[in-house]
Amino acid sequence: MEARVSQCAARLARQENEIRLLTAEIEHLKNSGCLGVSPSLEGLRDENAKLKYRLNFLRKSLQEEISKPAKSMININNCLQEIFGAAIQAAYPELENPPLVVTPSQQPKFGDYQCNSAMGITQILLKTKEQKVSPREIAEKITKHIPANECIEKVEIAGPGFINVHLRRDFVSKQLSSLLVNGVQPPAIGKRKKVVVDFSSPNIAKEMHVGHLRSTIIGESMCRLFEFAGYDVLRLNHLGDWGTQFGMLIAHLQDKFPDYLTVSPPIGDLQAFYKESKRRFDTEEEFKKRAYQCVVLLQSKTPDFIKAWELICDVSRKEFQKIYNCLDITLTERGESFYHEMMKDIVKEFEDKGFVQVDDGRKVVFVPGFPVPLTIMKSDGGYTYDTSDLAALKHRLCEEKADIIIYVVDSGQVLTAEELKAAQTSVAFGCIKYADLSHNRLNDYVFSFDKMLDDRGNTAAYLLYAFTRIRAIARLANIDEQMLRKAAREEVLILDHEKEWKLGKCILRFPEILQKILEDLLLHTLCDYLYELATTFTEFYDNCYCVEKDRQSGQIVKVNMWRLLLCEATATVMAKGFDILGIKPVQRM
Ligand code: ARG
Repeated sequence: MEARVSQCAARLARQENEIRLLTAEIEHLKNSGCLGVSPSLEGLRDENAKLKYRLNFLRKSLQEEISKPAKSMININNCLQEIFGAAIQAAYPELENPPLVVTPSQQPKFGDYQCNSAMGITQILLKTKEQKVSPREIAEKITKHIPANECIEKVEIAGPGFINVHLRRDFVSKQLSSLLVNGVQPPAIGKRKKVVVDFSSPNIAKEMHVGHLRSTIIGESMCRLFEFAGYDVLRLNHLGDWGTQFGMLIAHLQDKFPDYLTVSPPIGDLQAFYKESKRRFDTEEEFKKRAYQCVVLLQSKTPDFIKAWELICDVSRKEFQKIYNCLDITLTERGESFYHEMMKDIVKEFEDKGFVQVDDGRKVVFVPGFPVPLTIMKSDGGYTYDTSDLAALKHRLCEEKADIIIYVVDSGQVLTAEELKAAQTSVAFGCIKYADLSHNRLNDYVFSFDKMLDDRGNTAAYLLYAFTRIRAIARLANIDEQMLRKAAREEVLILDHEKEWKLGKCILRFPEILQKILEDLLLHTLCDYLYELATTFTEFYDNCYCVEKDRQSGQIVKVNMWRLLLCEATATVMAKGFDILGIKPVQRM
């Protein structure tokens, strides 16, 4: 573009100069009294008018040229996909959605890129048309239909039917020149879109933990990428600034710094302050009562309580800011409190639309496809994270008019404090027990924390983690226990794949193992078995898709139920094994 602009500009300068000369000439003719006399003057006027017209035209196109976005860099994979898409379409017009697989080649001998669609098409032809055609034949037919293009030098068919693609050097060279001339340009996105990124989002009066730090770092990088791609980015810090914990914090503030309204309280260590108030909340009945009153007064926006709340938030904010400064990150703060007023409307809207069910005094809303409902109002009338998140979502969609909303959250935050404690206890004591149990009790034994906590070896840490991962497979596919139970009755467990077969047999060895231990009382056999089961499961999982996802969007496209049932059978046996060992499994880790 720059070249065209400078060409244009040079031409403009030349033309303008000419106009100036012409005008000067006309002036000169006028002054010398020749106006209307010289026949050449008419010609000059004509030319002048034409030049002006041309000048305007050039100015306009220059302006257009400048305001046009720079040419985006070519996505070579996309180009090849288009070329092979067209070739496949021409070769097999009868196929509806033929697989289009183009990947960079791993080794130079396989060319620069590969199109591996032939194998998939063989399967489709067999299944849908009952035609038996070898992938090589298909590959050949595809290559015959490759349309004229500027990027492919030559193609070769290799192995069972891979199409190796060699790129043209002059094409690559031209792309590199364009990169140098235009700079690194973002991919084209079409219409400018708005993206809201919810990240960092620590909680007032608590320390920013590693999860928040990760979210901050990853979230910021996402924002930068979207900005580069030409999106309008809003970075939102969804601070936890409105929970019931403020009741006890304010009550404690009133006691410790009674003059907080006039003198800023010197809270150096907000963590300690939080801990003290929590201890009082748990042990002093009177304090607890007052803390609850403080919540009510805060939520009804009583000025002194708002002031106390602001003071506490400020202390935290300053702490968080130190970290944001170090990381050079600027976020827009829009904490939970921002959505307070919107929450009653959310509840009303859901009620009006008839989505609300009452369960044990709570108002809940079931979301299709998800077994656990959202709680939008607690039985005491209070709101929950679900309510503030729904209000935030509505605000982001309707007020901010976001096209894309991204939540960068630590997956650990689903664990509540109690769940976290339970998980830590299970894992810690599980590891200690397992270390004893997994050794042949007749042999000597070395006590080693490193060994018992090794999350890759034959330890409780490894097995418990494997167990949580197995259980997560169905959960992430939105398959709940009930659905699994139903499928267990109706589905046939297919064991065609070698790894399915291996896993199936391994699961069924459980009774043999138990029988043997009942006879020789050597419990380490059970540990060995569980470890073998976990590794056999991993082999199965690595080779057999349980849930198939669209590569690009990550959306689930297919759930292979019989495989989920194999996962479930593995988990059930593991859970029983843990039970016998006296180890408590956890659902999440
Ligand atoms: N404050 C929450 C926590 O620390 C994270 C909030 C994430 N964002 C959201 N919209 N829920 O666990």
